[in-house]
Amino acid sequence: MKFTLLLALGSLVSAGFYDKSPVMELDATNFDSVVLTNDTSIVEFYAPWCGHCRNLQPEYVKTGKHLQDIAVVGAVDCDKAKNKPLCSKYRVEGFPTLVVFRPPKVNLDKANDKKYIHATEVYLGPRKAKAMVEFVTNRMKNYTKRFATLTKLFEWAQVDSGRVKCVVLTQKDRLTPFLKSLAVDFLGAVDFSYLPLNKNKEEVYEVFEIDPDHEKAVLAVYHDGKWTKHTGDMSKSSITEFISQYADVESIVEHREYKRAILKGEKPKKKGGKKQRKHKQARDEL
Ligand SMILES: *[C@@H]1O[C@H](CO)[C@@H](O)[C@H](O)[C@H]1NC(C)=O
Ligand SMILES: *[C@@H]1O[C@H](CO)[C@@H](O)[C@H](O)[C@H]1NC(C)=O
Repeated sequence: MKFTLLLALGSLVSAGFYDKSPVMELDATNFDSVVLTNDTSIVEFYAPWCGHCRNLQPEYVKTGKHLQDIAVVGAVDCDKAKNKPLCSKYRVEGFPTLVVFRPPKVNLDKANDKKYIHATEVYLGPRKAKAMVEFVTNRMKNYTKRFATLTKLFEWAQVDSGRVKCVVLTQKDRLTPFLKSLAVDFLGAVDFSYLPLNKNKEEVYEVFEIDPDHEKAVLAVYHDGKWTKHTGDMSKSSITEFISQYADVESIVEHREYKRAILKGEKPKKKGGKKQRKHKQARDEL
């Protein structure tokens, strides 16, 4: 009796270690398209039968929840025959092995002649969500610019980089992982900056018509010599919709859909890298 029950449970667990969780089950067919990108990723190489993997599972799911829309939290089942080459490529010798993948910094204003190679780092810190989240967010590339004054912000906005300029006016003085991830998501299409609202408060409130009681963070795009405020919520999808009026976000949306499908356990096909058309602006379509 007991024996059959255990068997049944065992097969349930191995059916999908991270099914219906914010952790992406990756395999040899999608690993590179998800991990070897401008995103920062943490990947757990595991085996479903390993006790330490099972202990890590709840904390790793929490990590995935915290980093949703910010960084990639993935897992590779090294017990599966088709994944074995991937696990040996990254020299996985014990389970679980947590590896953080750091993309190289892209220089947008220079043709990149350097090879695009990710740095890998085995995570040896505490297996707690908080520690893992901190470790990953600390390793995300910072493509944002911080401005302390409106004058500096306007100077920057007026320089034509060939990309759309965006500012986040925020009560927080420090750069948040969410803002860092926005700049990574839109890399090459939109330049992001932020201006903490603790300085020159009144002036900023006036210029951007901010109601400080109701607007804790405001995102605005510089277009045709003026700032336009985003009036929706600060979710990635809402921000993306807003920005799509000014920049070509097609490939960004496509990649996000691709990741979402993998998260749901589907087998999406990666569309052949359509080059992003820079500069396509809303008025072209009107
Ligand atoms: C991010 O980088 C920009 C320069 O590109 C810098 O102004 C800003 O202070 C940096 N932010 C942090 C938190 O390091
Ligand atoms: C990283 O971003 C740059 C700028 O948008 C882009 O040219 C490059 O293809 C991206 N790299 C990857 C691997 O997606």
